[in-house]
Amino acid sequence: MSLPFALVTGTSRGIGLAVAEELIRRGWDVFGLARGAAPASLGAGGPGRYAHHLLDLTQLAALEAWVADALPQRLREASRVALVNNAALLAPVGPAHRLDLGALDRHLRVNLTAPVWLAGRCASEVPATTPLRVINLSSGSATKAYPGWTGYCASKAGLHMAGEVLAEETAGYGLERDLAVVSYAPHIVATQMQAELRATSEEDFPLRQRFVDLDADGALVSADGPAHEIADLCAADDLPAFSTARYQPA
Ligand SMILES: NC(=O)c1ccc[n+]([C@@H]2O[C@H](COP(=O)([O-])OP(=O)(O)OC[C@H]3O[C@@H](n4cnc5c(N)ncnc54)[C@H](OP(=O)(O)O)[C@@H]3O)[C@@H](O)[C@H]2O)c1
Repeated sequence: MSLPFALVTGTSRGIGLAVAEELIRRGWDVFGLARGAAPASLGAGGPGRYAHHLLDLTQLAALEAWVADALPQRLREASRVALVNNAALLAPVGPAHRLDLGALDRHLRVNLTAPVWLAGRCASEVPATTPLRVINLSSGSATKAYPGWTGYCASKAGLHMAGEVLAEETAGYGLERDLAVVSYAPHIVATQMQAELRATSEEDFPLRQRFVDLDADGALVSADGPAHEIADLCAADDLPAFSTARYQPA
């Protein structure tokens, strides 16, 4: 019997790890990727299965080779497919006039180039009769300008728009299929990315104190709530071709 299959990027920690755990709990076959290892316990509880792949999304040739080698058979055989474009970087943080070119390029590869390309590969490789869900991790920064976050705001805005374009493209190019793209904002989540954000300087990120205060007030949420909703979206049958959603804490 074929299982639902998910590719989740950035499963070594944070929201991506929680999403992988939740999907495995629900019986999905999950491929996770990151530069670092995932916790050894991930997938141990089943009933789904987990395979971790050490990949750096800035290394585009390695990504392309891995996708060609590891994915087509999985995508063809699965009962449904989800791509959770979760991996992302916050750095480089600082005003545009001080940005390091190489760091900005690495940022855009991880946050924009790789996820956009992965979504296109899935749309091309997944059989037209197999439901395909693409969940792009978004943020308020996709629509609101934060000084010091040129790369992060631009990449999240770009990922959001690329999802809309992909949804439009399923009306042509021979891509007609059951595809739904969701731009999903997980709220402010207690992860390493938030710790990194609080560790930046006020000079580089003038709104830093706001996030320090939110953390001190206990306003950050655990990754489990958004992960639960993302797993629901991966399994949902009644989604429009493109939609947005965001986690709202109780
Ligand atoms: N936390 C929040 O408050 C918040 C709010 C809005 C949106 N988001 C979004 O939610 C998503 C997850 O964020 P998070 O808070 O869980 O971040 P996180 O704790 O920093 O985790 C980021 C994940 O991305 C992976 N990653 C980073 N660079 C990579 C690379 N070059 N190649 C492969 N994997 C890479 C990391 O793994 P390795 O370092 O091991 O490679 C890690 O698993 C991101 O898209 C973020 O923008 C988060």
